[in-house]
Amino acid sequence: MRTAVELPKRVKAFPQLRFMGSKYRLLPWIHDVLGELSFDSALDGFSGSGSVAYLLKSMGKQVTANDRLRFSHEIATAIVENPGVVVAPEDMELLLRANADKRDFIQRTFRGIFFEEADLAFLDLVWSNLPALDDPYKRALTLAALIRSSVKRQPRGVFTVAGDPEHYKDGRRDLRLSLREHFVEQVDTYNLAAFDNGRANHAFHGDVFDVDPKGIDLVYLDPPYVPRADDNCYVKRYHFLEGLATYWEGAEFTERSRVKKLKKPYTPFSYRRDATDAFDRLFRQFADSIIVLSYSSNGFPDLSTLVSLMGRYKKVVEVQGRDHRYHFGTHANVERNQVTEYLIVGQ
Ligand SMILES: C[S@@+](CC[C@H](N)C(=O)[O-])C[C@H]1O[C@@H](n2cnc3c(N)ncnc32)[C@H](O)[C@@H]1O
Repeated sequence: MRTAVELPKRVKAFPQLRFMGSKYRLLPWIHDVLGELSFDSALDGFSGSGSVAYLLKSMGKQVTANDRLRFSHEIATAIVENPGVVVAPEDMELLLRANADKRDFIQRTFRGIFFEEADLAFLDLVWSNLPALDDPYKRALTLAALIRSSVKRQPRGVFTVAGDPEHYKDGRRDLRLSLREHFVEQVDTYNLAAFDNGRANHAFHGDVFDVDPKGIDLVYLDPPYVPRADDNCYVKRYHFLEGLATYWEGAEFTERSRVKKLKKPYTPFSYRRDATDAFDRLFRQFADSIIVLSYSSNGFPDLSTLVSLMGRYKKVVEVQGRDHRYHFGTHANVERNQVTEYLIVGQ
């Protein structure tokens, strides 16, 4: 029987994000499975909240984290690529000065939609002062702290519907605290999460199919699932965070969206007609690496199809299963969120 190996202590510092499909709660199990494999460099191809990339970094591996969401990329830059740079008190002074260029895009665009006026003004202010920080890791830490602050301050952590001002008077601490108060706490949290594991780690922002597979011993793949209903779109849920990561640079809003959603990017993993071929291409791309695929029992295509697809490129394909409940659903659909999680390992 497999014996559980203790999680590296470092993992406890990971700033957990309410993120659809996050594997944070599965990290001890993923660690056990990864711990039995022999590898030195690793790619997390769909890093999302960054939890698995952070685990790999904590295990002392040389890590590359990739996601095509900009805010995921900022988080990965802050805590995976970053070799231990922190935001110092004097940096905070710079960030919290008066709005350097009087910018107000966020206030004008999201007034009456999300947060309170002072919160929106605070986001404009931090962005106006961000260029004063000359270190890219300090900037990424600042953005990661703003992103996590926004998730905490936002009811349910998603941006699909406009916020009800009454929510912000809710007794719960996360909703009661202003964005400024959250931010001050979150900078400390991210500073504690930043560390050097002695390796040259990287954060990429792009399509997984554009990642060069050369020199990657192990690739961990956790793509989105083909949705049962139209509800797995990351940009639909997190468009505000995605915009915030770049101050909505070049943003294209969805027409007639009350909450100013950004346009939805295409990914083959979200469509029944494209997903099987996408998995095949992915396995071919990483045929020379150990492949570890996260898959859930409510995914598509089914488990046996994925195992035989991986078998085209790998001599041995092994499946590990584990019951898991995602905490995203409301009471009505909680059963749907009770799934078996699999790790399909190809060597
Ligand atoms: C299930 S989530 C990953 C969750 C992550 N393992 C965690 O623990 O937070 C899937 C991620 O895939 C990303 N994604 C979707 N299509 C992609 C593509 N073609 N290339 C890179 N990333 C993609 C999404 O932006 C999302 O962050």
